[in-house]
Amino acid sequence: MAYQAQKLSDAVGVEITGIDLREADAETGAALHRHFVENGVLCIRDQSLDLDEFLAAARFFGEPIVQIYGQFNMPDHPEIGLLTSEDTDSAGTGERKIRGTSWHTDASYFEQPPKATILHALIVPPDGGDTQFLSTAAAYDALPEETKQRIDPLKAVHNYQSSRSPRKLIKRSADQVDRFPEGILHPVARRNPDTDRRAIYLNPIRVECIDGYGRAESDALLDDLTAHCLNPTFQYRHKWRVGDVVMWDNRSVLHQANDDYDWRRHKRRLMRIMLEGERPV
Ligand SMILES: [Fe+2]
Repeated sequence: MAYQAQKLSDAVGVEITGIDLREADAETGAALHRHFVENGVLCIRDQSLDLDEFLAAARFFGEPIVQIYGQFNMPDHPEIGLLTSEDTDSAGTGERKIRGTSWHTDASYFEQPPKATILHALIVPPDGGDTQFLSTAAAYDALPEETKQRIDPLKAVHNYQSSRSPRKLIKRSADQVDRFPEGILHPVARRNPDTDRRAIYLNPIRVECIDGYGRAESDALLDDLTAHCLNPTFQYRHKWRVGDVVMWDNRSVLHQANDDYDWRRHKRRLMRIMLEGERPV
């Protein structure tokens, strides 16, 4: 199937136009998967997918998983969650709560965090509500050699909510807490098996400390690496259009949402699928 591919920034992201995912064959799916792993973020414009079509398209890239915050899931499709401008912290205060509004990678407190997250935009505000991305693979490549050698053998401790997190996350139900023990160890420099490229795998909302380091030494290294990752050189800011299918590689990309539009006047609604991942190495 013919289509056009165009880079979205130097460090991260590619845009695909001229394709209908409902008609894509396996060969096209494999080509799109290559674009995805090579660019970290893949945006396919102008799609109009129902629930089953969205799931079928996601399977070109991996295996959809049942999302654990069931209060946001589609009733008959637990692999599809909804992100809306009216979401609330239903297990907590019940107040409106927009998820994802600081830099993070999804669910790094899992032993096997999701490989990728895929969103399909149904309603977007005329301005604002962008999603920002940054390549932690490009950030790793740009490190001095001695820093790479220092961090390559290190592991970090991931919790649901780090004491270092810049924002308070939604409250979990008792069952959700029980299913996910705290203190999961993941490499600081993670190798992406699809590209064999390393990336800094530090999640600002979940990483508590460097395993084996004292607090001061750990905080200093985490602060330095986080500041390095946030360099605008590694970033791309996505302005949503209705019909976009956007996916990112949670192994080598950080992302953040922006709740900067008038949500009382303008709604925002996206469907979300997450793909099964491997244990980070
Ligand atoms: Fe997220």
